[in-house]
Amino acid sequence: MSLSTQDKPIALITGVSRPTGLGLETARQLGHKGFRVLITARDLSKVEALAKSLKSEGIDVTAASLDVTSDTSVDALCKMVSDTFGKLDVLINNANSVYDAGVKTLSTDFEVVHQALETTLFGAWRMCKAFVPLLRKSSQARIVNLGSGAGTFADGFWGLGHNTQGVPAYGIAKNSIHALTAKLAFELADSGILVNAVCPGFVATYEGTEAMGARPIPDGAKGIVWAATLPPDGPNGGLFRDGEPIGW
Ligand SMILES: NC(=O)c1ccc[n+]([C@@H]2O[C@H](COP(=O)([O-])OP(=O)(O)OC[C@H]3O[C@@H](n4cnc5c(N)ncnc54)[C@H](OP(=O)(O)O)[C@@H]3O)[C@@H](O)[C@H]2O)c1
Repeated sequence: MSLSTQDKPIALITGVSRPTGLGLETARQLGHKGFRVLITARDLSKVEALAKSLKSEGIDVTAASLDVTSDTSVDALCKMVSDTFGKLDVLINNANSVYDAGVKTLSTDFEVVHQALETTLFGAWRMCKAFVPLLRKSSQARIVNLGSGAGTFADGFWGLGHNTQGVPAYGIAKNSIHALTAKLAFELADSGILVNAVCPGFVATYEGTEAMGARPIPDGAKGIVWAATLPPDGPNGGLFRDGEPIGW
């Protein structure tokens, strides 16, 4: 059954600037499920090029510029979504700016830590503050925050107490988005908005990572799409990989 334009659920995804990013593949999979996808990135020309490729697959897509670290940028997008659609069904906080491999916690540059937190924690938090009023207008609203095993205590390989790659800014920022997920899920529990964090696993979004054992991009995106399309009685306030709960 094909949905009319008016009935189509709308999914907004942050950080969609790369052809091999999880954001684009998530948009593709949601688009093929009948969503109208609103893909966003700091560089409008990059996201417009990606939107063109989705359009050629028959996906209903809109591209917009968005810097999640800027109140002005987030507010402008929020106004556009409100004026154009009057509601939002799915918010996917996918943007990430730092992967500080090889860095030790005590030798890290605070500029990098700030950058990581500005994007991952404050960026997602800012998006939630701005868009929850529009999500409340949906009967099936979902927030998906891109977390990571690297931001958990539980993961015995990538986790905070084990990761031999270092990644202190990345790991601590991802830990903080997990915390944001739990707080929001608790506070929005009566709203019908389900808020979950997803770790996509180790995904081949950068050249050379496949040889290191990273999984194909469509496999990583599936778990994001799962959290974005949960039924009303789906879980709230958890961290998941491939639709299964994982330890924080
Ligand atoms: N790939 C993996 O193995 C893996 C594993 C665990 C978790 N994750 C998480 O999954 C998500 C997607 O992964 P990925 O590898 O596809 O992503 P990525 O390339 O690391 O990040 C996604 C995008 O975020 C954008 N971004 C950076 N700063 C931004 C800002 N201020 N405002 C808006 N967008 C901004 C970047 O675009 P520009 O810099 O071009 O603006 C980038 O294309 C990330 O959150 C990542 O941490 C990935």
